[in-house]
Amino acid sequence: MSGSFPEKSNPLIGSLRKAVYPGTFDPITNGHLDIIRRAIMIFDRVIIGVAEDSYKKTLFTLQERVDLASASVRQWPQVEVKPFSGLLVDFARKEGAVAIIRGLRAVSDFEYEFQMYVMNKKLAEDLETVFLMTATEYSFVSSSIIRQVASLGGCVRGLVPEEVEKALLKKYGFTK
Ligand code: COA
Repeated sequence: MSGSFPEKSNPLIGSLRKAVYPGTFDPITNGHLDIIRRAIMIFDRVIIGVAEDSYKKTLFTLQERVDLASASVRQWPQVEVKPFSGLLVDFARKEGAVAIIRGLRAVSDFEYEFQMYVMNKKLAEDLETVFLMTATEYSFVSSSIIRQVASLGGCVRGLVPEEVEKALLKKYGFTK
């Protein structure tokens, strides 16, 4: 048997492969959905971890961010949305995930992502990070640019899910 794959000790065999996709999601965009769509082709279940205590001051409350993300992924039964606080690696372990999903939009994302990858690896040796490239049409999209454009009355249709577009219009007082 030398040289063969050690099937019995492989934790992935016979179990569902879960991954967590963490972020602030303030709000979730079509760029994030593009990453989730790719992630479910690789993993059996994807858990979107909405960070509670991000260093960012958010426009949407934690509950609103969770609700908007949940509404945006309802077409995928294998995707779940959960809030989390504390360390990402602890959340991933609690959920039984084998990997962390991160999206890369441009070379400029790499430095920050690499730093996070190394730190997470140091904290949890057994957790892998899987980087997926965002489709080029969303490579310029970020939640803050969406918030900025929406706050000034600009149209963000096609860049965010419909529920998010409505929520932004309401938040900035363009509709009731
Ligand atoms: N499409 C569109 N936008 C994207 C995107 C994509 N595919 N990927 C990232 N973005 C945007 C996000 O919307 C966000 O935009 P914003 O800065 O304008 O709001 C920006 O890129 C950065 O997003 P992201 O990289 O997901 O970071 P985040 O700040 O939303 O989330 C956490 C960071 C929550 C994952 C991280 O802080 C964390 O793990 N926190 C838990 C505490 C912890 O464990 N810390 C140690 C980690 S080493």
